[in-house]
Amino acid sequence: MSKITFLPMNVTQEVKAGITILDAAIQYDIPLQHACGGFCACTTCHIQVKSGMSSLSALEEDEIDRLERVAEGVQENSRLGCQAKIYGDVVVEVVHLDES
Ligand code: FES
Repeated sequence: MSKITFLPMNVTQEVKAGITILDAAIQYDIPLQHACGGFCACTTCHIQVKSGMSSLSALEEDEIDRLERVAEGVQENSRLGCQAKIYGDVVVEVVHLDES
């Protein structure tokens, strides 16, 4: 099991290795937006990795493309929650809170 902490709500949960950050968020009712349903299209699942970047699956071309061309406020630690899989302990900050 791996641990993921979601900020700014500061909720930590244990998750199975290989689950995406978005699936972990859905599992634990974290309000992480996912307008396209997790298909690497909308970038509303944008998160920033505060620690544990090396515990996530590697960036793939589609995700890099979306981050470069669609997402706003992208930083070096930006990932898409629907693409990044968890393989160790991570701390992530939700960029777009789902207010609905
Ligand atoms: S949910 Fe749309 S890009 Fe991740």
